[in-house]
Amino acid sequence: MKVEITREPKLSKIDHLFALVAESPRAAGGYPDPVRKAIDDAGFSGRSDESITLLAGEPRKITLIGVGKSDAVNIRTIRQALYAIAKTAKKHRDTKIAVVAPFDGVSTRTVADYLAASDYKYDAYITVKKDEKRQPIHATLLTNDDAKTAKQIEKEAGAIADGIRTVRDLGNGPGNLVTPTRLAQRAEEVAKEIGVKCTVYDKKAIERMKMGGLLAVNRGSHEEPRFVVLEYSPRRAKQHVALVGKGITFDSGGISIKPADRMEEMKFDMCGAAAVIGTVEAAAKLGLPVKVTGIFASTENLPGGGAYKPGDIITMMSGKTVEIVNTDAEGRMILGDALHYASNLKPDHLIDYATLTGACVVALGSEAAGLFSNNDELARKLIECGERVGDRVWRLPEWDDYKELIRSEWADMKNSGGRWGGAITAALFLKEFVNCPSWAHLDIAGTAYMEHETSREARGATGAGVRVTLEFLESLSR
Ligand code: BES
Ligand code: MN
Ligand code: ZN
Repeated sequence: MKVEITREPKLSKIDHLFALVAESPRAAGGYPDPVRKAIDDAGFSGRSDESITLLAGEPRKITLIGVGKSDAVNIRTIRQALYAIAKTAKKHRDTKIAVVAPFDGVSTRTVADYLAASDYKYDAYITVKKDEKRQPIHATLLTNDDAKTAKQIEKEAGAIADGIRTVRDLGNGPGNLVTPTRLAQRAEEVAKEIGVKCTVYDKKAIERMKMGGLLAVNRGSHEEPRFVVLEYSPRRAKQHVALVGKGITFDSGGISIKPADRMEEMKFDMCGAAAVIGTVEAAAKLGLPVKVTGIFASTENLPGGGAYKPGDIITMMSGKTVEIVNTDAEGRMILGDALHYASNLKPDHLIDYATLTGACVVALGSEAAGLFSNNDELARKLIECGERVGDRVWRLPEWDDYKELIRSEWADMKNSGGRWGGAITAALFLKEFVNCPSWAHLDIAGTAYMEHETSREARGATGAGVRVTLEFLESLSR
């Protein structure tokens, strides 16, 4: 939904005002008069299981939503409330809503960008729409900031929301339509819109660059691979950050084929690449004074007649050799080349995004992405930034002790270390291709898409990785 931010809402024009109310101690300030009256009239406690809708005059309806003890209010409780608000507004067919969430500790901008995302639904291919007559929802978020600041925050939140929407649309898009070629085209479209440089390498160019990992995975598919570089270089930039994404537009596992059950979820295996596109889009729209290079490698992983096989030995772009023991460990093959390419650019920081391992989902579920880093300072910052904006990452070790699991008799390394510590051995494999003292790998396999609807968001792609990265990029410019 579109979100406007203001200190002086025209309450008479609002269909439905939603107020998030904490239990004790109650934040007294920040609510307009009709809300204060509603809280008193209803004897509203603010417990997190409590909500009530009252008919008011101006605005027509007021819904109070309890969010529990005020010192425990955080971005996650707020997101849950915002998602509930969007659902209620849809059900009521409200077209003009207002939201007030007067809490410290969560920035207005973050609330605004989650609010903008709260009614998202991927319905591009539903031809018979139940909600045919549903009007778009326009939201007004109340703030204490002055008009000028409010407008600025509104613009920034809009930029982030745009980036997130790009990621979700691409992620939710089906594998037959979001092919590597199409993904690269979308990157070009976004680049054109925001005025950044975009270079697309086709199969011939990828061959010339000797990207053996990407080409090996691509061999089982009829779709051409793509390698894409987006360059956002503002004049004032002091630092350079390279972002690298995994863009497997469908992962069947290849010759080491996956079980049929829920294989359709593997259309989301390009969410890392999508996160890179969305982050560059938002960074440019925010005008962040940091140079950002967005890079992704993209192919399908299919078991065609030419497919790479267990036992094959592949020479990567860096010259290192890999013994294939499982063709389903394809993400690290394409990322190995992309990380080598990115390292050659000598960025100050290098961050990669990949739906890389089921093992990471086993370890952390869908609440946090796995974070691996060769740099404690970078890791600490990313954890902090993620916590602030509700895009959590949690560190797992990348100790060399695990490296023997990917040692090979026949090549420099194997592409899989087996089940145990699977997220860690995957990260160690990537590290072999990184030449940057400040590198982080985010395994977003559990966070990039929701298998089911949750209390906080819709089923499907989430935009994981975008918010934490933008927060980090901003911290560099402070
Ligand atoms: N794309 C998958 C990882 C994945 C699993 C993402 C579940 C999202 C949800 C990746 O390419 C893969 O297949 N990984 C294997 C690695 C193994 C063969 C070493 C895995 O996790 O099983
Ligand atoms: Mn795989
Ligand atoms: Zn994969």
